[in-house]
Amino acid sequence: MADLSVLCAGVPLRNPFLLASGVWGESGDSLAGAWAAGAGGVITKSIGAVPRPGYPNPTIETYERWGMLNAMGLPNPGIDEYPREIEIARRAGVTVIGSVFAGEAAEFARLAGRMAATGVAALELNLSCPHAEGFGTEVGSTPEDVERIVRAVVAAVKIPVIAKITPNTSDPAALAVAAERGGAAAVSAINTLRALAIDVRLRRPVLSHGLGGLSGSAIKPVGLACVWQIYDKVSIPVIGVGGIMTAADALEYVMAGARALEVGTAVTFEGVGVFGRLVGDLASLLDELGYGRLEDAVGAAHPAR
Ligand code: DHB
Repeated sequence: MADLSVLCAGVPLRNPFLLASGVWGESGDSLAGAWAAGAGGVITKSIGAVPRPGYPNPTIETYERWGMLNAMGLPNPGIDEYPREIEIARRAGVTVIGSVFAGEAAEFARLAGRMAATGVAALELNLSCPHAEGFGTEVGSTPEDVERIVRAVVAAVKIPVIAKITPNTSDPAALAVAAERGGAAAVSAINTLRALAIDVRLRRPVLSHGLGGLSGSAIKPVGLACVWQIYDKVSIPVIGVGGIMTAADALEYVMAGARALEVGTAVTFEGVGVFGRLVGDLASLLDELGYGRLEDAVGAAHPAR
């Protein structure tokens, strides 16, 4: 059986499949459930400085085969409450990466310090939620903003910092380069694409917030293009995200340059059982293609340099 273990951002992972932020991560028990089902690690919900209830319903619209649209509004219990959930997951032996969001660099640095104190293995900065006023893309869509925020966080913590960047900009690879300059240990690409659905009978957007983020199979080609371009421009690891539903999707991301992967919409559709399926199928696929180790396939689709 092919060896699926990888080292990403200095964090050893038993396999590359991470639970994506915002999915199945409400409680320590749900994080532990994803781990028990076979995930290589879990990324928490994005946690902010204070509790947020999120947007009213409806917050999700699903599109049978090709994905879903959501605008939850970054609901979270806040950094005073959430560490007890991380503690539950850590006691179960889970590799936990803590996701945080904030409105500016100093607040990011403060929150990152609090999150790091929980004992998480690494931090992921949400610089890419496509619709929350004052957060995400609004603070992370220029290279200058990304570099400043990453630099402030890196100065505040001793653990690896991962920047999750947006595809909703003309040059996502420039954001990854800026994250690397700021001291990031890895970049995650991509977050959701800003998107909209309209209910023609009600003559208004389907989601209460109006705009949302599109995820799932529909965005896989976009994510692949971003990972492909980023891999050519940075030397830190890239974590591939966007529409990974099968082992073949996963290997496409790896061959485009990803060293680890995040799975979100597939978990929403299928539950955490998806991790066992992906792990088994990816090992078989690598065996079939003659790879002894997943690491040997990273970037394999790029022309030899
Ligand atoms: C939300 C946050 C995200 O980062 C995203 O990609 C989609 C939705 C949210 O909480 O609404």
